Amino acid sequence: MSRKSLLAGNWKMNNLIADSETLVKGLVANLGNITDKDILICPPFMSIAKTSEIIKGSHIKLGAQNCATEDNGAYTGEVSPSMLIDAGCEYVIIGHSERREYYKETDAIINKKTNLALSAGLKVILCVGETLEDRELDNTFNIIERQITEGLKNIDVTNVIIAYEPVWAIGTGKVATPEEAEAVHAFIRQTLANLYKNDSSQSTQILYGGSMNPGNVEGLMSCPNIDGGLIGGASLKVDSFTDLVTKA
Ligand code: 13P
Repeated sequence: MSRKSLLAGNWKMNNLIADSETLVKGLVANLGNITDKDILICPPFMSIAKTSEIIKGSHIKLGAQNCATEDNGAYTGEVSPSMLIDAGCEYVIIGHSERREYYKETDAIINKKTNLALSAGLKVILCVGETLEDRELDNTFNIIERQITEGLKNIDVTNVIIAYEPVWAIGTGKVATPEEAEAVHAFIRQTLANLYKNDSSQSTQILYGGSMNPGNVEGLMSCPNIDGGLIGGASLKVDSFTDLVTKA
């Protein structure tokens, strides 16, 4: 089954509204007409409304980096899936390793967010990945299987994208080799095949994330089970994200 490529920029906690405006305008000019690949940008919450205005009329898609576990009510400081849709988002990233590590998000919390976001009508990019310690202890596949199985408990995977982001490769410049990444991507697809008895394991996009850049994207994208990227640092500059998307 052929799967469309998805190149997603996760800006993390970078860019004031004015910086976002400059970056998005440059991306719309360079990438706004591309239709054979999905291009997604995930700015910080504060820049979502402005980004939504600027991308109108282009093919660039908009997502958020996190959402609440509840859809409204007394949850000070939280942002719900329906608020994200209201502001123009089509996607949300859930379970990024930075959320798991710094904000103590468990698989159960991630499952709850995923369920709520999908019910609200968002597409979910569910992030999984092992730490260096997990890898050195030969625990990679166990960790990935647990994160996928628990994260997707009682969930229809139709509007879910998986992002494999080895924690040791995020922001370190130490990218997984295409062979290392492909082995885990194939394992993820097999795990999905075990969980879902329809053909969704074949149609689900599985992205690689962790120091992806214009120099290594081609090797990673040549792997049969790698359908795109979730890109941090290299998505923060018009030139590098343009270059990366063009080569993908
Ligand atoms: P870097 O591309 O900066 O390594 O970040 C990857 C990432 O965490 C994307 O979600």
